[in-house]
Amino acid sequence: MAKIAPHYDIANIDLAPAGKTRIEWAAREMPVLRLIEERFAQERPLDGVRLVACCHITTETANLARTLKAGGADAVLIASNPLSTQDEVAAALVAEYGIPVYARKGEDVATYNRHVRIALDHRPQIIIDDGGDVVATLVKERQDQISDIYGTTEETTTGLQRLRAMKNSGKITFPVIAVNDAQTKHLFDNRYGTGQSTLDGVVRATNYLIAGKVVVVVGYGWCGKGVAMRARGMGANVIVTEVNPIKAIEAVMDGFRVMQIDKAAEEGDIFITVTGNRHVVDVQHFLKMKDGAIVCNSGHFDLELNLKGLSEISSSRRPLRPFVEEYRLKSGKSIIVLGEGRLVNLAAAEGHPASVMDMSFANQALSTEYLVKNRGKLEPGIHKLPQEVDLEIASLKLQAMGIKIDTLTPEMLEYINSWEHGT
Ligand code: ADE
Repeated sequence: MAKIAPHYDIANIDLAPAGKTRIEWAAREMPVLRLIEERFAQERPLDGVRLVACCHITTETANLARTLKAGGADAVLIASNPLSTQDEVAAALVAEYGIPVYARKGEDVATYNRHVRIALDHRPQIIIDDGGDVVATLVKERQDQISDIYGTTEETTTGLQRLRAMKNSGKITFPVIAVNDAQTKHLFDNRYGTGQSTLDGVVRATNYLIAGKVVVVVGYGWCGKGVAMRARGMGANVIVTEVNPIKAIEAVMDGFRVMQIDKAAEEGDIFITVTGNRHVVDVQHFLKMKDGAIVCNSGHFDLELNLKGLSEISSSRRPLRPFVEEYRLKSGKSIIVLGEGRLVNLAAAEGHPASVMDMSFANQALSTEYLVKNRGKLEPGIHKLPQEVDLEIASLKLQAMGIKIDTLTPEMLEYINSWEHGT
């Protein structure tokens, strides 16, 4: 048993034994990360590196933290969302693995922000961010610490959108690895992870039957594709809404009904937002919805549903079940909000299953190693991990699944590298 972490802010340290069992359960589905952990324990590529990870505090993140620690990192963990922390996991990280954690499920926004600043007091050299809050605070408030930074990594589409906006205003003066841009991240985590865990969140919160429901998926990026695909698999009649014409055609050709949100508002039984944008379901849409319509969000921030606007047209609110709240409109109709409009997959369920987080967090672990190895050599700005790393992660995953694939023959290699063969 590791020495208990010297400092932390968690809900209940007595939950540690239960958390440890759950972390070990997730580890069974994370073979790629385990291989990296074993190598890191031998090579210690992060020896003494001060690191802050702002992630959802889940069993999968705990396995990432174990890997970083095995590599020698001096890591501090904070939550990347007030509602996504698994308290027993936070307890186990502190008591069983000796890793300082600042995260409590249901923490208020002031506590969340305080934890971000405590993490920055650790004077990180590497920041693993999920959503961009730590990097944004660093840039806004801790310019004096930027010279410490080897680089940062970003887990989500939303975080990268934010970082690209920061870059456009000249604020990114250090290297950032866009983990979300790795194929072994977004093609799997965003699609299959969000797809399954979002439906899991809706079902755990409501215990509703999905078959026969009209499910409106707002946004058809990788996450929206996953949610729409899984909702259809459970028997829902799925409508997609989009602003991007290419994605809209894709949704049509994938066999979904596509229409404007104004029209979908009248038809939907369950609305799931996955756009990364603000107020994509707004007051005029709530007003058109059926009595008892369910609305939830699986995008990173809790602003996709205009809940302030919903409150203003409501006469009362009451909780019905954990993560299920009824807003009674002045007209008498009710709208049901899941997980306070925060990520429903992490608020009401456990987030993406370990098997996809295995690849996402392999990317995170290898990105930190890459930043340490290349410190001082990378240009400021947003980088991808080299393609070989992506291919290596995919190969290791296949190997762990016991799946063999073919290799190019010399004849094929010659063909694809030449231009002379034609008609
Ligand atoms: N993001 C989505 N699912 C997650 C999980 N299980 N752990 C950490 N971050 C996540």
